[in-house]
Amino acid sequence: MRVLALNGSPRKKGNTDYLLTALLAEFDGRGAVTQKFDLARMHVMPCKEYMVCEKKGVCPIHDDVETLLYPALRNADIVLLGSPVFFYNITAQAKALVDRTQLFWARVYRLGLTDPKKHFRRGLAVSVGATRGRKLFSGVELTARYFHDAISAIHEKGLYYQGIENRGDMAAHPGHAADIQATVGRLMAPLAHRPGVLFLDRGHAGAARIAAAFLEYTAGDQIEVLSAGIAPAETSHPMVETIMAEEKIDMLFRMTRSLDGALAEIRPAAAVLMGDISPPPELDDISIIRWNDLPSVSEDPDSWRGLRDDLKRRVADLLPRIKGSDPISGE
Ligand SMILES: Cc1cc2nc3c(=O)[nH]c(=O)nc-3n(C[C@H](O)[C@H](O)[C@H](O)COP(=O)(O)O)c2cc1C
Repeated sequence: MRVLALNGSPRKKGNTDYLLTALLAEFDGRGAVTQKFDLARMHVMPCKEYMVCEKKGVCPIHDDVETLLYPALRNADIVLLGSPVFFYNITAQAKALVDRTQLFWARVYRLGLTDPKKHFRRGLAVSVGATRGRKLFSGVELTARYFHDAISAIHEKGLYYQGIENRGDMAAHPGHAADIQATVGRLMAPLAHRPGVLFLDRGHAGAARIAAAFLEYTAGDQIEVLSAGIAPAETSHPMVETIMAEEKIDMLFRMTRSLDGALAEIRPAAAVLMGDISPPPELDDISIIRWNDLPSVSEDPDSWRGLRDDLKRRVADLLPRIKGSDPISGE
């Protein structure tokens, strides 16, 4: 399970940073893979309203959002948006990123695509403010709600602290440690006990990605799904995005993983070996399912459609076996 924290506070070692760091430590202690970005120290351009995202589903701005933050958002199962209240809303640094997720909004609402994690990804706003007004977090809450919708995350009740002004105030707040434990427990509970399935092929450029996306899209709330390659290529084959978009499944920015990288994230109940690879020793004590008779692909898009449709059928057959049997019998 991957947890992403976005820190919108410009203050080094400030209150928001303290809260996010403590939350991630708790997630980490419960086995999640965590990552934090300090937005104020990154190159994050605001949206320029070029409208390319709404027409073509891409953003023409080249910065850290494109290279780091879009991929991190796409691959996260839980997203924490942290920001102090600045003038009754999130900071400009956080808002710049939020506005750039219009790209994801456009891919859903203009292009009709679905992120495979849509049914289970969770989003939580984390905020602090100096004063104690009744509506102190109303702006943050509303912005977070629509941010979560754009990034295909289920909106969770935010974690908000008032009367927090100076550096160190958050650390001194009584009860915050218990709140953190309860919040992490609540966010992880629906995702914690899913059996894991790993799709493994040679280059992680095609088949494993497609199968993983189908399974995650259909049953990601019940099964933890990852894909990886023995010798992963830098990126997926460009045809993958095209043929999956025909199925309305969004593959943009999905991660490339090595086997080691995948095993750092998941202890699978079963691994599906795709193509002509032999079982690696790391998977010795895991049920192995072999799919070595997959249709071959060429530069012809129809060959990719053939592979996609074959994998869709196989994934549908696999699903009841994974949900219904423990341990899963190999083949
Ligand atoms: C530009 C600016 C605007 C602020 N606006 C508000 C506000 O509208 N309401 C409030 O309660 N606190 C406001 N604050 C106070 C911060 O929310 C508060 O100091 C917070 O603890 C800072 O968190 P940090 O350490 O994570 O940056 C503002 C602070 C700054 C610098």
